Amino acid sequence: MNRVALVTGATGGMGKEIVKALYNHNYDLITIGRNEKKFQEFLISENYDKNHISFYKCDITKLAQLEILKQTICKNYKQIDVLINCAGG
Ligand SMILES: NC(=O)c1ccc[n+]([C@@H]2O[C@H](COP(=O)([O-])OP(=O)(O)OC[C@H]3O[C@@H](n4cnc5c(N)ncnc54)[C@H](OP(=O)(O)O)[C@@H]3O)[C@@H](O)[C@H]2O)c1
Repeated sequence: MNRVALVTGATGGMGKEIVKALYNHNYDLITIGRNEKKFQEFLISENYDKNHISFYKCDITKLAQLEILKQTICKNYKQIDVLINCAGG
């Protein structure tokens, strides 16, 4: 079973580069951002396998969205091995 990494700000900047590095080291990626279109373009440009990388739309400045994100992640994953907080702003 692959290790699991959660990366906020994964669709741009440093977060995106970290996602690439972790994907290449066989992590399963949970990526967080506000712009799903940007994520889909990234997925296609890198030819990533959707079974190993998922996107959850969330504005991390919005507490209500964060609460839903927390519940969803806890339901879908047994554990997070690596947490990278790279959301800009
Ligand atoms: N770059 C530098 O030189 C530098 C230096 C020191 C510190 N930092 C800090 O390091 C972190 C990463 O820097 P960066 O330059 O790589 O960041 P960035 O390019 O500004 O942002 C990376 C991604 O964060 C997402 N994001 C922004 N606000 C968000 C929000 N409220 N909720 C969810 N996602 C959000 C955006 O994706 P979406 O459009 O999909 O939401 C964006 O693609 C930032 O916190 C920055 O302040 C950066």
